[in-house]
Amino acid sequence: MKKWYAVIGSPIDHSKSPIMHNSWFEQLEIDATYIPIRVEPENLEEALHAMTILGCEGFNVTVPLKEKIIPFLSAIDPSAQAIGAVNTVKKTENGWIGYNTDGIGFVKAFENDFGKSLRMAKGLVIGAGGAARGIVDALKNSGYMDVDITNRTLERALVLQKEFRLANVLEWRNIRDLSMYDFIIQTTSNGLRSSENWPIQFDTLKRSCKISDIIYNPWETQFLHQAKQHQLDVQNGLGMFVHQGAESFYLWTGQYPNTEKIVSVLETTLG
Ligand code: ATR
Repeated sequence: MKKWYAVIGSPIDHSKSPIMHNSWFEQLEIDATYIPIRVEPENLEEALHAMTILGCEGFNVTVPLKEKIIPFLSAIDPSAQAIGAVNTVKKTENGWIGYNTDGIGFVKAFENDFGKSLRMAKGLVIGAGGAARGIVDALKNSGYMDVDITNRTLERALVLQKEFRLANVLEWRNIRDLSMYDFIIQTTSNGLRSSENWPIQFDTLKRSCKISDIIYNPWETQFLHQAKQHQLDVQNGLGMFVHQGAESFYLWTGQYPNTEKIVSVLETTLG
């Protein structure tokens, strides 16, 4: 019988996950399908029950359910425990197990574009929300030795610094001068909306400084735009999206899909 997988959340129409996973099932000749299902928080428990009865093998979880789903799962993998959020769920004999592949997806994409040599270099994570938490956890687990954090609200940065033993907290008012960093990762939702210039003096950054923004829609945030104007190497969040999906796919099927080809397919739907 054909297996089925899903992504649940609300809104869900814009999700690129079905295109990606269905294309991987086809490439690897796996008899399965992946569908988007709109689920509101108040219907989450019933939706999970229905998915169990209907034989769903696994699913992704997106906004606004990533934290809310935790009480309804049978177990939580350490990847999700540290972050307090789940983006991947897998069916097992003992019930649903929750994982989080966002952080490792980020690191895979980052190293795919910029190599592994930055593990010893000095980096800065901008932001201290849920996305930043997943990323700093994965950076530390992957051996990044010297990562600072900065956030508009200082207290949240201090919490992450302590929890993940980050090197330093850079105060937001000092964000203008980032000349000491070898890489910078922008995780705030400010990039989604703002067209205002960031107060960073991009012209003082090292020419070799690598710039990553976890947003890919818009394709180029104001942050990336400014960095590119200063001829810096940049990546947007599409690679992270593809790699978090590849990690979910691997958890479900035991097979690792081709991440390069799908990047160009998705680029044409987004760019
Ligand atoms: P997510 O799960 O997407 O990370 P979040 O937990 O709401 O969402 O966190 C949003 C992040 O974007 C936070 O770091 C937030 O900073 P604050 O902790 O000060 O709120 C940051 N952020 C949102 N809007 C911002 C803005 N206009 N300027 C700077 N940072 C902003």
